[in-house]
Amino acid sequence: MQALIDKIRRREARCGIIGLGYVGLPLALEFARAGFHTTGIDVDAGKVERIGAGRSYIVDVSDAEIAEAVEAGRLVATTDFAAIRDLDTINICVPTPLRKTKDPDLTHVVNAVNEIRRYLRRGQLVILESTTYPGTTEEVVQPALESSGLRVGRDFCLAFSPERIDPGNPQWGTRNIPKVVGGVSPDCTAAAVALYEQCVDTVGAGLLDPRRRDGEAAREHLPQREHRPGQRDRPHVARARHRRVGGDRGREDEALRLHGLLPGPGLGGALHPDRPLLPLLEGQDERLRAALHRAGRAHQRGHAPLRGWRR
Ligand SMILES: NC(=O)c1ccc[n+]([C@@H]2O[C@H](COP(=O)([O-])OP(=O)(O)OC[C@H]3O[C@@H](n4cnc5c(N)ncnc54)[C@H](O)[C@@H]3O)[C@@H](O)[C@H]2O)c1
Repeated sequence: MQALIDKIRRREARCGIIGLGYVGLPLALEFARAGFHTTGIDVDAGKVERIGAGRSYIVDVSDAEIAEAVEAGRLVATTDFAAIRDLDTINICVPTPLRKTKDPDLTHVVNAVNEIRRYLRRGQLVILESTTYPGTTEEVVQPALESSGLRVGRDFCLAFSPERIDPGNPQWGTRNIPKVVGGVSPDCTAAAVALYEQCVDTVGAGLLDPRRRDGEAAREHLPQREHRPGQRDRPHVARARHRRVGGDRGREDEALRLHGLLPGPGLGGALHPDRPLLPLLEGQDERLRAALHRAGRAHQRGHAPLRGWRR
């Protein structure tokens, strides 16, 4: 795996992103800015076409940023998964919506992994970035990729690094939000860290969980998922309190706006509103966390339904 790490450090590796949404497109641009030849693969031909034409569809990304990367020959987008054959690194950034039963729907992840499996070769690094529960990398992704006959750690690298972007946040983006990485083996961690170090300011490494090795990285993601419903709740509570004491709603809104706290469903992406139940899948040892989540959701429902809220 040292050859792959060296290639990454020389920025000669060919990087690939599967899923060019709120998470994948900004990451693709960071790779391209770092000098990597980057290929974005998406099933949505419209998005692929727009990238080729230098037109953005993501709030945090400007047309100029895309056009610059495309014109420099550092970013190409395609719907053709055969491009995976030529890639050294592959980041999976596809959606993981919740089913009606509130467990994550891994259909898009499984579809992407099956495509990678078709073209997987020795020396590649695969990283799952989609939001999911601990264990997904080893229990779902690894067996599917190893059914190719290649072995993780020996032939290719596999890691989990949950994306934590906050679309629309002018202060924190892909580059300065610290990245946490959990590799299936120490070599896998080293390769993934080497990749992110080229374009992310802070990378947390060595987060292997001896039982479920992507577990620590997934758990690092939990506080953020918990923070967001709480953050959305605060303005609802503040407004309700203000109404009770006959406050001036305009002034209250202004104060909330200053703190970036106006309520809303989030600017986009799949992470925010419906995620808080995901940690419940973690199991019996998470009773306290589960109780907090249930209480938070009940509280939120009681104060102001998200649906129908207008800014
Ligand atoms: N948006 C956020 O705020 C945010 C933050 C952190 C983590 N996440 C997580 O990151 C993941 C991606 O979220 P997003 O907001 O970028 O989603 P998104 O819907 O904006 O983008 C996902 C993209 O993947 C494409 N896609 C779907 N299936 C595919 C497949 N099999 N092959 C190739 N492309 C495919 C879609 O066409 C779409 O363009 C999710 O798991 C989400 O929970 C999102």
